[in-house]
Amino acid sequence: SKPKILVARAIFPETIERLSQHFEVESNQADESWSKEQLIAKLQGKQGAFTTGSERIDTAVLDACPDLKICANMAVGYNNFDVDAMAAHGVLGTNAPDVLTETTADFGFALLMATARRITESEHFLRAGKWQKWSFDMFAGSDIHGSTLGIIGMGRIGQGIAKRGAHGFGMKVVYHNRSRLDAALEAECKASYVSKEELLKTADHVVLVVPYSPASHHTIGAAEIALMKPTATLVNIARGGIVDDAALAVALREKRIAAAGLDVFEGEPKVHPDLLTVPNVVLTPHIASATVPTRRAMADLAADNLIAWFGGKGALTPVTPVPPAAS
Ligand code: GLV
Ligand code: GLV
Repeated sequence: SKPKILVARAIFPETIERLSQHFEVESNQADESWSKEQLIAKLQGKQGAFTTGSERIDTAVLDACPDLKICANMAVGYNNFDVDAMAAHGVLGTNAPDVLTETTADFGFALLMATARRITESEHFLRAGKWQKWSFDMFAGSDIHGSTLGIIGMGRIGQGIAKRGAHGFGMKVVYHNRSRLDAALEAECKASYVSKEELLKTADHVVLVVPYSPASHHTIGAAEIALMKPTATLVNIARGGIVDDAALAVALREKRIAAAGLDVFEGEPKVHPDLLTVPNVVLTPHIASATVPTRRAMADLAADNLIAWFGGKGALTPVTPVPPAAS
């Protein structure tokens, strides 16, 4: 008989159809918000799960769901997985990298431009009927072209943003990363490696694309913001928790930096209330990978991981130690 899987959130009907050719599928097509207890109840008897990054897979879930063998995340990030606990339980985790790289880099650039050029702030002004006359400094922002772009986290997405900045906008690109890129990749991205401190001091625009881990928690807090230029902008498309949102809200209110663009938030979908009241921040609801083709590709890759692994071919993009293939 077919393995049983749970699809934890609503997804494309085509994805459900495809999964149904291989599995007995129970799906949350109503997109209900499940408590941990409800998730555990739904996972009973399931060997696989299609997850989206919102479902925390930890010891409590793993202990309570002994049939579970694999969780396929429809996201490149997988900080919803307790990787050590999954490894200890022999449960495989997979993510959905690569297919979203260029789309997410596009969005990082869009958010950077919206932030530097005050696009949403000025639109709110116009919609509120406040546009009565021209004035010399109305929504005057900062330039993108020819400025210095600092990228923290130089994975595939960071490299995509670097290329856009260097090749498209003539930016000088500096980056900081756990490890330095090889010379060929640095040349391709026209990017120079610098310390985090040097980057924060010299960049006109700082973009964060570092994966979340306890080590990257509050990569940017009050002390780091204090190093930045008062004219600088900060963009976070990485994960909530990479930035200390409370400290950022204070810095924005006090104009210690010019502006910020945030697609991710500590404790999202809640947003720090102080961020909602400062004007110099562009806020988007975690949509950096949200184009129709890319979301389809991410769903396909998560499904492909389940199909390949249960088919005995091994997972395509594992992020936990690989347990023996299904028989
Ligand atoms: C989105 O944040 C992802 O990790 O894919
Ligand atoms: C992270 O995996 C990235 O692609 O930047």
